Amino acid sequence: MLRDALRDARHVCVLTGAGVSAESGVPTFRDAQQGLWAKYDPHQLATPEGFLDNPPLVWRWYRWRRELVSQVEPNPGHHALAKLQELVPRLTLVTQNVDGLHQRAGSNDVIEFHGNLFVNRCFAEGCVIDKDDDATVPTCPGCGSHVRPGVVWFGEAIPEAALNESFATAADCDLFLSVGTSSLVFPAAGLVDVARDAGAVTVEINLEPTEHADTFDYALAGKSGELLPELINSLAI
Ligand code: APR
Repeated sequence: MLRDALRDARHVCVLTGAGVSAESGVPTFRDAQQGLWAKYDPHQLATPEGFLDNPPLVWRWYRWRRELVSQVEPNPGHHALAKLQELVPRLTLVTQNVDGLHQRAGSNDVIEFHGNLFVNRCFAEGCVIDKDDDATVPTCPGCGSHVRPGVVWFGEAIPEAALNESFATAADCDLFLSVGTSSLVFPAAGLVDVARDAGAVTVEINLEPTEHADTFDYALAGKSGELLPELINSLAI
């Protein structure tokens, strides 16, 4: 039984995707491309080439998305995962989301696979820059290069530390929980294979079964904001 597997787990690895934040009202990249932004394509807004082409445009787009995300709150799914870390010996949370909502809900050991919307980095060297959210594109105090948002853009590599830690976690865990992700975007989608090969129990929670649902030991269909609290509360019984 899933509850027993979770109760017995030594190290739980959780992978989350956009679905976990859907009930908070965080728009997906596509959903956010409305109104003023509908005329731009993702290449212009979320690639290094697009940024070099028009830094102020890309900076405005990310400022606008930061504002949207600042106005939403973590939902019961985020809170349940924060609670789970207190109920199992070890939990590592890998998220593809850039919204920081897991941390706001209280999760500690969060690996941000695709970076963070609110982090600023030097475009040339990648170092983190502690700056307020300037209206115009800030420049790096070290080298004068433009400052960019610390997210992983299309065509960019996953940050090495996040990649290595995530795959090491997948190989070490004995329960792997995939929540609110289509499991289509690699390399994150490959984590479950590593966990399965290492003998972990695998669980999918998604609004509807994904096309890989039958490869998981358990596939639960429904809202993560409802199913996660139910599952985690059942541990206390
Ligand atoms: N509860 C659970 N699952 C949900 C909910 C919900 N309330 N709402 C939506 N979902 C599911 C959808 O059914 C879908 O399978 O969440 C999944 C979201 O899939 P994607 O939009 O593909 O998001 P994700 O898997 O996070 O995408 C990975 O791709 O677009 C890039 O960089 C972006 O990080 C993102 C990556």
